[in-house]
Amino acid sequence: MPKILVTGGLGYIGSHTVVELLNDGFEVAIIDDLSNSERFVLDRIEEITGKKPDFFEFDLKDQERTNQFFAENKVDGVIHFAASKAVGESMVKPLIYYRNNLVGLLNLLDAAKDHHIDNIIFSSSCTVYGQADELPIDEKAPIKKAESSYGKTKQMGEEILEDFARVFDKKIIALRYFNPIGAHPSALIGELPKGVPNNLIPFITQTAAGIREQLSVFGDDYPTRDGTAIRDYIYVMDLANAHVKGLKRLLADENVDQYEIYNLGTGTGSTVLEVIQAFEEASGTKLNYKIVDRRPGDITAAYADNTKAAKELGWTPETSLEESLRTAWEWQKTLD
Ligand SMILES: NC(=O)c1ccc[n+]([C@@H]2O[C@H](COP(=O)([O-])OP(=O)(O)OC[C@H]3O[C@@H](n4cnc5c(N)ncnc54)[C@H](O)[C@@H]3O)[C@@H](O)[C@H]2O)c1
Repeated sequence: MPKILVTGGLGYIGSHTVVELLNDGFEVAIIDDLSNSERFVLDRIEEITGKKPDFFEFDLKDQERTNQFFAENKVDGVIHFAASKAVGESMVKPLIYYRNNLVGLLNLLDAAKDHHIDNIIFSSSCTVYGQADELPIDEKAPIKKAESSYGKTKQMGEEILEDFARVFDKKIIALRYFNPIGAHPSALIGELPKGVPNNLIPFITQTAAGIREQLSVFGDDYPTRDGTAIRDYIYVMDLANAHVKGLKRLLADENVDQYEIYNLGTGTGSTVLEVIQAFEEASGTKLNYKIVDRRPGDITAAYADNTKAAKELGWTPETSLEESLRTAWEWQKTLD
């Protein structure tokens, strides 16, 4: 079976994708510097799948070490998750974000070029669209100036990859995730936010668990059905599955373009208040929340048109918001 390098494979989306890859029979090597993850995740992956991926602990910013990895390990494809991802933090530490997300990518691509690695999947984000003019958002929607340095690194990453695919004749898929949520059904792996969570769902589950006193809902004066912002929440295992489908497309040379882009979302937007209600029903708990001012940089609404992924990758999300929230809650309870 092909061997796949998963960078950032001990992180949130990476670890769930590694589980899907191993369950599908792929061999997996993980590079992760543990800057935003924990080593125990490796054991949990083994507990779920019965297989232990090879693990290499180092920083992709280290060009020499990255090259050495490729010199010593033959891989058939790469899924590149490793990046810094906190939007708010990127606004105050932009250089750290540019360096980690771009230097890491460039080192990886240099090594991929030198060692003749084809088949690359890149973690991109719906942040590249900014506040789109039309909803749902399809892949042809214009790229707007990103609000955050994090968003800019994803836009630049995509541009770099498009050039790389063209000049060096490589096959690449960029996956633009909407809002990944939930945990593996075993509750052995899930999201591990450091400090105060940026994202709604870990904030909700931490509030329900009593770790945070109150959930802040940022703004109830958006032009939406209940005034709160709308996002497209996609279950992390559905997302993981899309990576496997994307990879198989590249490995089988079924891609139509050298550089392809897919939106990964459910196609349905939910308001913050709808998510709160769905969580309360899924968990049987009551959430303490209050409405506060809008958060700078937040957009009104974003949800995906996912028909391209359905048609070309054969991927459709299968898990409801309620079920995804239930897994997030089960995972949170293991962290108490
Ligand atoms: N979670 C989201 O809401 C979301 C949405 C859209 C896109 N993305 C993108 O998906 C990818 C994965 O996100 P995630 O939520 O799993 O994040 P995460 O922080 O949980 O995982 C990233 C992993 O990469 C590792 N890493 C970071 N920099 C590294 C480096 N220089 N060298 C080696 N390892 C490094 C971290 O230790 C971590 O384990 C990221 O590229 C992120 O930008 C995430």
